[in-house]
Amino acid sequence: MKVLVFDNKRAGSLYAAQIIADKVIINNSVNEDTVLGLATGSTPTDMYRALIEINKNDVSFSRVITYNLDEYYPMKKSASHSYHYYMYDIFFQHVDIHEENIFIPNGELKNNELNEFCKEYELSIKRNGGIDIQVLGLGLNGHIGFNEPGVSQNSVTRKVALSDTTREAAAKYFEGKEKVPYEAVSMGIKTILDAEHIVLMAWGNEKAEIVKKSIEGRISEDVPSTFLQEHENVTIILDSESASLLNRSRVSLIESKLS
Ligand code: F6R
Repeated sequence: MKVLVFDNKRAGSLYAAQIIADKVIINNSVNEDTVLGLATGSTPTDMYRALIEINKNDVSFSRVITYNLDEYYPMKKSASHSYHYYMYDIFFQHVDIHEENIFIPNGELKNNELNEFCKEYELSIKRNGGIDIQVLGLGLNGHIGFNEPGVSQNSVTRKVALSDTTREAAAKYFEGKEKVPYEAVSMGIKTILDAEHIVLMAWGNEKAEIVKKSIEGRISEDVPSTFLQEHENVTIILDSESASLLNRSRVSLIESKLS
C-alpha cells in the first residue's frame, strides 16, 4: 500500500484528482475509454471539484465511463438523499461525460428485479474492460462501498443491509436516523479488488482509528477495508489528522507530503 499524508483535505483531493486526470489524458491520447469506480459521501467532494476544473481546462471526459459503488435501497433517483442526485449535483452535470456512460446502482427497482440488475452491473463493468481506478471513502466501521463488517471477500454487487453505525453516521443527511434506509445496493469486495488501481481517501480525526486498523490491522472481514492490504496497487490519501495514529515505523511506504 502506498500511503500519502497531506497537510489537508484539499491538497489530498487535488492529488487524487490528478491521478484520475493523468489516466484520462493517457487513455484519451490513444482513443481508449477510462473506466472509473466512484464514491459519494463527504470524502470525495473536493476531488470532484478539482476534476471539474481539470475538465474545464481541456481534459475531456467524453471517453470516461463511471460505475458508482452504491445507492440506498429503496431510493428514488430524484430524492435529494439519493446518490444519483448527489452525483449529478456535485459532478456529472458539470462535466462533458456522456449520459450513457454513467452507471449507478438503481434503488428504484422492485425486490425481484434486483438480482438481474446486479448481475448485469457486474457484466457491464467487465464488458467495458474492468475498472481502471476505483475511488473509495472509508466508513467509521471500515466499510468500503456499503460492504459492512462480516462481508465476504468474494462478494459482488448485491443488496446489502446497512449496519447501525452506518445508519447513525448517515442520520445527519436524513433529518434523523429513523429516516435512513435499512438497505442499499452495493458493489462487493471482489468488484472493488478487481480494479486495476484503488485510491482511498480519508480525512479528519474521526477517521484516524479506522485508518490505523485498515492499514496496520490484521486482514479480517470484521474490518472490510483490511482486504485492501491484499491488492497490489492501492494508494491511500490522508490528511495529517486521519494519519495521526499510524505507526510510521511499521508502515514502510509512508511518503509524507506534510510541509
Ligand atoms: C459512498 C460509500 C461509503 C462512504 C463512507 C464514508 O459511496 O461507498 O463507503 O465512502 O461511508 O463516507 P463519508 O465520506 O461521508 O465519510
